Amino acid sequence: MEKLIDQITKIVEDGFEACGYERSLGKVTLSNRPDLCEYQCNGAMAGAKLYRKAPIAIAGDVVEKLSGEPAFEEVSAAAPGFINMKLSGAYLAAYLEEMDQDAHLGVAQDEEQETIVIDYGGPNVAKPLHVGHLRSAIIGESMKRIYRFFGHRVIGDVHLGDWGLQMGLIIEELRDREPQLPYFDESYEGEYPQEAPFTIGELEEIYPAASARSKEDEAFAARAHDATYKLQNGNRGYMALWNHILNVSVSDLKKNYEKLGVTFDIWKKESDAQPYIPDMIQKMKDGGFAHESQGALVVDVAREEDTKEIPPCILLKSDGATLYSTTDLATLVEREKLFAPDRVLYVVDKRQELHFTQVFRCAKKTGIVRPETELNFLGFGTMNGRDGKPFKTRDGGVMRLEYLIREIRDAVYDKMMENRTMDEEEAGKTAGIIGLAALKYGDLSNQASKDYVFDVDRFTAFEGNTGPYILYTIVRIKSIQAKYEALEDKFAGEARILPAASGSEKELQLSVSRLGDALRLAMEERAPHKICQYIYELSDAFNHFYHETRIMAETDKERQAGYIRLLALVRRALETCIGLLGFEAPDRM
Ligand code: ARG
Repeated sequence: MEKLIDQITKIVEDGFEACGYERSLGKVTLSNRPDLCEYQCNGAMAGAKLYRKAPIAIAGDVVEKLSGEPAFEEVSAAAPGFINMKLSGAYLAAYLEEMDQDAHLGVAQDEEQETIVIDYGGPNVAKPLHVGHLRSAIIGESMKRIYRFFGHRVIGDVHLGDWGLQMGLIIEELRDREPQLPYFDESYEGEYPQEAPFTIGELEEIYPAASARSKEDEAFAARAHDATYKLQNGNRGYMALWNHILNVSVSDLKKNYEKLGVTFDIWKKESDAQPYIPDMIQKMKDGGFAHESQGALVVDVAREEDTKEIPPCILLKSDGATLYSTTDLATLVEREKLFAPDRVLYVVDKRQELHFTQVFRCAKKTGIVRPETELNFLGFGTMNGRDGKPFKTRDGGVMRLEYLIREIRDAVYDKMMENRTMDEEEAGKTAGIIGLAALKYGDLSNQASKDYVFDVDRFTAFEGNTGPYILYTIVRIKSIQAKYEALEDKFAGEARILPAASGSEKELQLSVSRLGDALRLAMEERAPHKICQYIYELSDAFNHFYHETRIMAETDKERQAGYIRLLALVRRALETCIGLLGFEAPDRM
């Protein structure tokens, strides 16, 4: 279905053409002056030079041609040469009818369907999933859903960090605690135990302890480095331990992501890329891209137009060790082989931007990806506490995601219990749904690149630009629908969305008609906050209409039925949007 703004652009283009002017001048935009009109066209100003004619005269010509055009209730020329338009009620209502008939709410899918890999989540094995990884999961999940909505083939990859020093630290700490384990016995040749020698709880205690110790104990740190090196070179016992660490962590991670409503299509890890490294490096050498610099092997990625220095991308350190960039490049080799993606989107902390600039340039320069492959970095800011510093628990520790989710759920629960609208069990379940919405909306409503303050009170407020406010709007519509269903005396004919009978209804209709524009913008700009902005406006428009309109007391039964049709469409639009943001609405709240 063609977007409304494109439909009216065509009409206005026809108008320009019929007057003997260039069609392309007829582009229509949303009005900058909603007090004067709904849509506007500025083409007459651009035409003035072309035709050596006063813009207001050109606008006047076109306005005259467009008079009587059924799409408009009003078309007028305004100084110095604007064409201002108001849509006719019938035209707008018909558009909404068509939208409502469409399973996809009239939002056209993209003609060229891309294969897109989204790299998000990015947790590190053996470290608890903490708030630092929250944003990546929430934003990445939303981008995945948005791309899919437009028909693209998306592969969400969690890209686990499983190949770093944290492994060596755990191995050495465990050696000191339980030296009798067979993993440390170099002469051991039997099968290793199936069961891991630790639980997730123990693992989460072992890692921070080892990490703290390595900062004070140089000999221990050196051992951890050595163990990491041996693991990466295939030491049998360490590989077996690494497998245990991986399995224990992954089942815990899956549980946590499930609570967040975040899913991945593949659970690839940094270690999966390792087999591609030798060949990749050989090719970079053979191609003349990689050269030695101070003992390290590097690829230059600086460009003349750079305004700040972009250091070379390092492939191998002087001791032959690989780095984060080596792994990311080899991961691209693997992705190319498995999926040949048209686009790879990385949703990662913005402080890693330089790393990705280097990796992207190197991948393009060395031909790891095709020239037309889009490599995108969606960098996000930090989630801070109210003190403006990165969010911590009350005692200063790293906040576990689980606790964070619980904290926000509890805040919602307490609020609900104050009002006592439902029993404890339903309130508990509902609080979980609302809490998640509060958390995700609180995050997604900010432009991703900005830091924001995690504020439970603000996020869980039922008024203002919050998740609960949006849910409340949906719940309100559901309750009106239920009331209407229970009415004895309903319109017997076929209900249709009718031309708006009031200003607030027209505003609401215009707002729904813009669903597709908002969604497309969110995809193109990789900005889920555009969807939040849109549903906040739509909810406001709905609530304004609701307060001004006596829906249940309406005596014109056809009109009442029309309201209900409109409400159902608004609800679908809102539910589609929150689905793309990654949360859902309860039935009551
Ligand atoms: N594990 C990394 C971290 O915690 C994030 C991974 C991001 N993805 C990537 N392909 N580098 O910082």
